Amino acid sequence: MFKVPPVSAPRLQELLRAMPKAELHIHIEGSLEPELIFALAQRNDLPLPYASVEALRQAYAFSNLQSFLDIYYAGASVLLHEQDFYDMARAYLARAAMDNVAHAEIFFDPQTHIARGVAIETVINGLHRACADARAELGISATLILCFLRHLSEASAFETLEQAQPLLDKIVGVGLDSSELGHPPEKFARVFARCRELGLHLVAHAGEEGPPAYIWSALDMLKVERIDHGVQAVHDAALMRRLAQDRIPLTVCPLSNQKLCVFPSLADHNLRQLLDAGLCATVNSDDPAYFGGYINENFTQVFAATGLTPRNAYQLAFNSFEASFASNADKRMWEHRLKETFERFAEQD
Ligand code: ADE
Ligand code: ZN
Repeated sequence: MFKVPPVSAPRLQELLRAMPKAELHIHIEGSLEPELIFALAQRNDLPLPYASVEALRQAYAFSNLQSFLDIYYAGASVLLHEQDFYDMARAYLARAAMDNVAHAEIFFDPQTHIARGVAIETVINGLHRACADARAELGISATLILCFLRHLSEASAFETLEQAQPLLDKIVGVGLDSSELGHPPEKFARVFARCRELGLHLVAHAGEEGPPAYIWSALDMLKVERIDHGVQAVHDAALMRRLAQDRIPLTVCPLSNQKLCVFPSLADHNLRQLLDAGLCATVNSDDPAYFGGYINENFTQVFAATGLTPRNAYQLAFNSFEASFASNADKRMWEHRLKETFERFAEQD
């Protein structure tokens, strides 16, 4: 492993912003800023139950995952046309590029849109075109992961997969999100088995609010390659050993965990514990428009609150590339850029 050169504490915050990184846990509907929600509502002639952008932002006070999801699905209801999905993803990718995100694997929730009469090709084509344009214009790499909503049935997930079948060349994998408690992963074992046969990568939210048993189930019943969140793993020593030994990545989202009251405060976040146990943890934004910051804000705030080190910074960025579904050639290129950034900061310090 690269010997991380010393970087002074004041420069660490700058380095966190400057270092190249991958974002592996971003719900594109969670990047819809209130301003864009209002603009799309107006463009599509849809009513909103909020008088202003400020009034909508004021409603963003959450006590748990469900209290957030209710507002998040309402916000997503302004998306109707391919151009709406394009504009949303293009805005996120421009913002991510500013945070030196070299590669993003973007979640989307087709069932939310299908339920409102929006065709799945409208969703996927808009998002995919935004990824292609962002690569050409900003040099950022981006791919798509279709998430099944776990509060809906297995039949609904199969139906969604069926509709997505002609478009599978535009996605790299599938995930599982929405209300976790009461919806254990094994409900979707057959759907995930089918997705595996189709050659798709597999990830699932587990251990955000739910118990370690849900993480075991995501690993052993769904056979996922990454766990989204996974912070509840610390309550199960055998699970921690399994995650470390198999280098199963966790896509951790510190500001999301803070805003949804998973931890009493950011200072109580267990990211350091996960890293110290040798897990392949990464830092991500989840739903940045709702949780107070994009990926760099997640890095700088969790480092400031928990006293993580330059070595942790390097490890987290390195992990993000290792955990991605990008090619080995791209991973080596980004790791090289990462080293160069650390060396430059050490020399200038
Ligand atoms: N959908 C969007 N954000 C989510 C989260 N943090 N957990 C589960 N489902 C989600
Ligand atoms: Zn999430």
